[in-house]
Amino acid sequence: MYYSDDVVEEVRSRNDIVDIVSGYVKLQKKGSSYFGLCPFHHEKSPSFSVSPNKQMYYCFGCGAGGNVITFLMEYENYTFPEALKVLADRAGIELPKQEMSKEARAQADLKMTLLEINKLAANYFHHQLKQPQGSAGYEYLSKRCLSDDTIRHFGLGYSNKTSDDLYRYLKGKGYSDGILKESGLFTISERGTWDKFWNRVMFPIMDTNNRVIGFGGRVMGDGEPKYLNSPETKLFDKSRNLYGLNFARSTREKYFLICEGYMDVIAMHQAGFTNAVASLGTAFTTQHASLLKRYTGQVVLTYDSDDAGVKAALRAIPILKEAGISCKVLNMKPYKDPDEFIKNQGADAFRKRIEEARNSFLFEIDVLKRGYDLEDPEQKTNFHTAVAKKLLEFPDALERDNYMQAVSREQFINYQDLKQLVSRTAARLGPAWAETRRSAAGYADPAGEASASGAGDGGTREGAFYERRGSFGTDGGTRQRKREKEDGAKQSQRLLLTWLIEDPRLFDKIRGIITPDDFKEELYHTVAQMVFDGHESGNLSPAGILNHFINDETQYKEVAALFNASLKDSLGSEEQKKAFSETVIKVRKNSLDEASRTAADIGQLQEIIRARSALKTLHISLD
Ligand code: CTP
Ligand code: MN
Repeated sequence: MYYSDDVVEEVRSRNDIVDIVSGYVKLQKKGSSYFGLCPFHHEKSPSFSVSPNKQMYYCFGCGAGGNVITFLMEYENYTFPEALKVLADRAGIELPKQEMSKEARAQADLKMTLLEINKLAANYFHHQLKQPQGSAGYEYLSKRCLSDDTIRHFGLGYSNKTSDDLYRYLKGKGYSDGILKESGLFTISERGTWDKFWNRVMFPIMDTNNRVIGFGGRVMGDGEPKYLNSPETKLFDKSRNLYGLNFARSTREKYFLICEGYMDVIAMHQAGFTNAVASLGTAFTTQHASLLKRYTGQVVLTYDSDDAGVKAALRAIPILKEAGISCKVLNMKPYKDPDEFIKNQGADAFRKRIEEARNSFLFEIDVLKRGYDLEDPEQKTNFHTAVAKKLLEFPDALERDNYMQAVSREQFINYQDLKQLVSRTAARLGPAWAETRRSAAGYADPAGEASASGAGDGGTREGAFYERRGSFGTDGGTRQRKREKEDGAKQSQRLLLTWLIEDPRLFDKIRGIITPDDFKEELYHTVAQMVFDGHESGNLSPAGILNHFINDETQYKEVAALFNASLKDSLGSEEQKKAFSETVIKVRKNSLDEASRTAADIGQLQEIIRARSALKTLHISLD
């Protein structure tokens, strides 16, 4: 936080959210809230809500949410201090001059300066492209079929042949060697300072707020390395940025396209597929997945058709699944990558390939199959066993069955035989296999259901398998139950917080039962403390609480979601009253369970046991 909490809260509370948002979005009153078309994603019917009571906005479509400060940050691409300044001016508040700690200011200044430098560099490279000395770059890009519009849209450029051109330009603007070094744009040695990029076409890399955070430079021809990229800097973290996301974030499509490189993204956008992003040569990471998850739940992988591309897809699929993103794989053959495909076949043919994209599991089976010679009975059997093993990745019996049907149809394997094989494979692999699956988090152990579904077709000979499977089933089941329990605990804490925000009268109902310490999820605990404190002091302000999370986009979005989630189900019906009571008990019980694991002595343990049995008779009435 750059300014004191009081200052931030003063600025926030003196700017009404409805006033501010209605300057950008046409709002209509509906009940106690206002609704309009979300400015953060494209939609036809309004799911963007603004609550004057909570002083917050929230989109039920894309999950964008926050207070008046984050609204300006997101809409205007302002930094936090910029947004605060605008709002302070608007409310006639004078911001204190030097509130930041020395170090915080230095860090903020450094980032700001690096952004400035990157912006200057991008403009400089772009400008070169239209100069006589940049003609080689311009011709190269034209030859690769990029229009002037596309070149401008992506801010493409050219770095001169002279090897200290950019350095001299930025020195002329007064930047010190120290800061220029931090930008990653230069190589500094005893002999002097040189531009890292020279005689290359330049691709500025932007964050979701259109700020240049790094560069890629391509050699114009066959030299090595083909692409040179900015190193990681204070601004640039490769595993957290996706090239093209600044444009793709406002796509109208439900799904995103993921590809490998700069030229693929650009070629796809130029052809109208403005939902394409790339992880830029680095492997697709879980951070990439959670970044994407903010915008979409579906992707189509359009990686290169070569071995490296297939490998990249096989790596990305489980990461995407784990993040809850469903995924398909596009067949690029006979072309190498989207750029080449579109150049040869055009946009319509590419769209057709998107429509035909393969279910990611069936794609994995296709790849698996390549490793076996199916003419050979032994290898064919091995293939079938491998398929059965892979099918066990689905923890849900029904889903697994759907895939068994698809695989048996496609691979000409008798369905009943496959089903039996799956059951037997589960038994044979036993606990050891379950252990190895543990690392592939997200796939709960299927054992329990495998034995259940297999039980029907068992002959006497298979009795033995079922017995052995029994122990496997127990083992897997325990772990699955543990995971479910964790998810359940988190969900209950979340629900309870949301209810408390919605209806502060509920605080009376949980007095003496629940304290902020019962919220075991770290973020929820922090929020709960603030919510309880706020209620205690008589000014519980969701939008004010949000101030504390403004520097972390992931966090403030999650908190905003927390504060807006239950709008649809307030505690009216009998069923919901019962749910409230149960939720309170769950949260408390989970907290006691955790306490018993860390209890220091027998006294504490007895205390916990007493509290637990008291919980058994607890009933909370809302009437
Ligand atoms: N890449 C890289 N460094 C390299 C090669 C590749 O950083 N030496 C990254 C780049 O982001 C590149 C992506 O990996 O865009 C995919 O590589 P490749 O398929 O070789 O390049 P293309 O995108 O096909 O580029 P072009 O069409 O210009 O050959
Ligand atoms: Mn490629």
